[in-house]
Amino acid sequence: MTQRRILVTAALPYANGPIHIGHLVEYIQTDIWVRYQKLAGNRCVFLCADDTHGTAIMIRARQEGRSEEQVIAEMQQRHERDFAGFEVGFDHYGSTNSPANRQLCGQIWQALRQKGMVSERAVTQLFDPVAGTFLADRFVKGTCPVCKAPDQYGDNCDRCSSTYGPHELIDPVSTLSGAKPELRQAAHLFVELERLHPFLDEWTRSADHLEPEVSNYLHGHFLNKPLRDWDVSRPQPYFGFEIPDSPGNCWYVWFDAPIGYMASTWEWCQRHGENFDLWWRDPGTEIHHFIGKDIMYFHTLFWPGMLHSAGLQLPTKVHVHGFLTVGGQKMSKRTGTFVKAETYLRHLDPAFLRYYYATKLSPSLNDLDLNLSEFASKVNSDLVGKVVNLASRTARFVKQTGLSATYPDDEALFARGAAAGDEIAAAYEACDFGRAMRLVMELADRANPYVESNAPWTLSKDPAQAGRLQDVCSVALNLFRQIVVYLSPVLPRLARQADELFGVPIRNWRDAASPLVGTPVATFQHMLQRIDPKDIQAMIEDSREKELDATSATPAAAGATTVPQDTEEALLAEPLQPTILIDDFAKVDLRVARVLAAEDVPDAKKLLKLTLSLGGEVRRTVFAGIKAAYKPEQLVGRLVVVVANLAPRQMKFGLSEGMIVAVGPGDKDVFLLGVDSGAKVGQRVH
Ligand code: 2FM
Ligand code: ZN
Repeated sequence: MTQRRILVTAALPYANGPIHIGHLVEYIQTDIWVRYQKLAGNRCVFLCADDTHGTAIMIRARQEGRSEEQVIAEMQQRHERDFAGFEVGFDHYGSTNSPANRQLCGQIWQALRQKGMVSERAVTQLFDPVAGTFLADRFVKGTCPVCKAPDQYGDNCDRCSSTYGPHELIDPVSTLSGAKPELRQAAHLFVELERLHPFLDEWTRSADHLEPEVSNYLHGHFLNKPLRDWDVSRPQPYFGFEIPDSPGNCWYVWFDAPIGYMASTWEWCQRHGENFDLWWRDPGTEIHHFIGKDIMYFHTLFWPGMLHSAGLQLPTKVHVHGFLTVGGQKMSKRTGTFVKAETYLRHLDPAFLRYYYATKLSPSLNDLDLNLSEFASKVNSDLVGKVVNLASRTARFVKQTGLSATYPDDEALFARGAAAGDEIAAAYEACDFGRAMRLVMELADRANPYVESNAPWTLSKDPAQAGRLQDVCSVALNLFRQIVVYLSPVLPRLARQADELFGVPIRNWRDAASPLVGTPVATFQHMLQRIDPKDIQAMIEDSREKELDATSATPAAAGATTVPQDTEEALLAEPLQPTILIDDFAKVDLRVARVLAAEDVPDAKKLLKLTLSLGGEVRRTVFAGIKAAYKPEQLVGRLVVVVANLAPRQMKFGLSEGMIVAVGPGDKDVFLLGVDSGAKVGQRVH
C-alpha cells in the first residue's frame, strides 16, 4: 500500500479560556485519528495553535493590567500543559499571533484583493466612549425593544427570543465600562463571498469533503440564497494584525484564525526541514480539518473560499462533530459539570476519558453524552475487567520462561483477531470509533473465556503442567497484545506499558497480525486502576461554582446563625489588637493582585515563589509560606490581596517584595483571602 501524506488540524482553541471536557471531545477524537494514521504507516502531521486575537483578549488584558501578549503566553502554556496531560500529541502547536501567520494573512489578502473580491463600506456600530472601542453585540446590554425585558444582550432577548441589532436596545449600556454607547460609523472591508457561490455550491456537494448531513445543512441554510458579504475588518483598538493596505484596521479574528493552520504548518516545516508547498500546494497531500458543528460556516464556506481564491489546496475533508452534554444536559458551572481539563486531571486518569469518548464517537453530528455512571462502569468492565485482566492474570506465570517458542494452538483465537484488523481499521478511518471499540471488545469477550477455562492459576500449582501453563499464558498475552495494538490510538499509554512488558515496541497496525514467540516477559506492572465513583464525585464538587450569594437559603450560606458556638470561640482565641485610628490603617497599602506565576522553591520547606501583577506594569515577587496548603498551579491566575508597601525583605531564596494576606495557623491550615468577582487588579482595599 502506498503511504498517504496527511495534514490534520483540530480547531484552534481561544486564548481567553481554559480547555474543558467539551473541547476534549474534539482533541481526543482528532488525536485518535492521527495516531491511527501513523500506526497504519501513513505520513501524518497534526497541527494546532492558540487562537489569540479579538476583542475578548484585549478587554481581558486591560482588566488584568497586563499586555495581550502576556495574557496569551500564559494561556498557551496552560493549554499545552492540558493537552499533554490528555496525551493529545500535536506535531506542532503554534499561535495565531505569530510572524508566520501575519505573513500568510498578507499573502491571502493580496490574492483576494487581486481578484477584486474586497469592497469597502461604512458600518454603523455602537462605540464605548470610555473604553474607546467599538462594541461587539455581546458587550452591550439593555432593555429588549420588543418585550421590554431588562438586562438583555445586544443580539437577542432570552425572554422573548427576538433578534435585533444592539442599537435597537432601549437604554443600552456597555458591559465594559458601564458607559452609554454612542452610534459611530467606521469603514469596514468585506469579502464578496457571493462571487464564489458556484464554486462553493459544487465543492460542498461532494460526499468526500463533507458528510451528507453537513452538506444538506449548508444547502438548506446558506447556499439556497445569495451569500452575505463577509465583514473581515475591525477598526482599532483591536488585538489583531493591522491590515497593511488599510491602516487603522485589523483583520477580524476569524480571518486570521484558519490561516493559523497554515502558519503552524509553516513553523513545523521550518523546524523539520520540510517543504511548506508540499503540504498546502500539492494535490498529493490530504488536508483534514476536525471541528465542532458551531463553526461549520467558517470552515465549509469562508475557508474553502479563501483557499480557492489564493490558489491553495482545498480541504480533503472537514470532519464535524456534535457538542458534549453531561447527563443529557448542557455543561454547567452551577452543577459542576463544566469540568476543566486541569480539574479532571487532578482526579481521574485521562485514559478513562479517551476510552469513553472513543466508545461514543461516530462520524455524525449528534451530540455526545457523558453519562457519569456509564463512564465508570464502561471503563471498569471493559478496560480493567476485560483487557488489562488478560495480562494481569497471566504474565507472572511466564516471567521465568518467557513466551512459548512456537505459537500454541489457541482455537484460532489469534487468527480471528488478526482477521478483524481490516474491519477495525476501516472503522477508525471512517471516524466510527464507537464501532471500532465494539469490535475490539468482541475480541476481548472471546479471549477471557479462554483464560477462565484454562485456569492458569490452577495449572501453576502442578509442575507437570508447566508446558501447558506456558502455552496458555502465551496465548492470553498475545491476545492481550493484539487488543492493545488495536486500542493504541485511543490508549497510547497502555501501548507503552505493553511495550515494556514484552520488550517489543508496537510500531505498526500489522503488529496485531503476528504473535510474539520466545519473547521474554518482564515483571507485570500495574496498568490501569478501576474508577472509584468517589473520584468522579470529587471532580464534580471541585468544578461546582461556589455560591457567593448569602441570600440563597442553603445552610452553608445562611450566615452567622448557623456557625456553631465552638467555631466562634476558636475564632476569638487570638485576642483582639489595641484600637487604631483610620489613619493608621490607611498606612497599610492593601491591593488586589493577580498571581501571574507560582513556583515551588525546592530548598524551602514552606515557601512558594509568586509573581504578582498589581496592574499596569507593576510586578512583585513574593515568597509566601503556603506550600503545604496550595499547589502552584492552583494559584496561577487567581486574585489575592497583597500588602503592597511592606518593606522588601531579603530572604535566603531572593528578595520578597510584599506579603499576601491569609488566615489560619499555618502549614495546611492556611487560607488565602479571596476577592469577589468584579474587583480589578491594582484596586486598593479600604
Ligand atoms: O470556535 C473556536 O473556538 C475558534 N477559536 C476556532 C478557530 S478554528 C480555526 F479556524 F482557527
Ligand atoms: Zn424580549
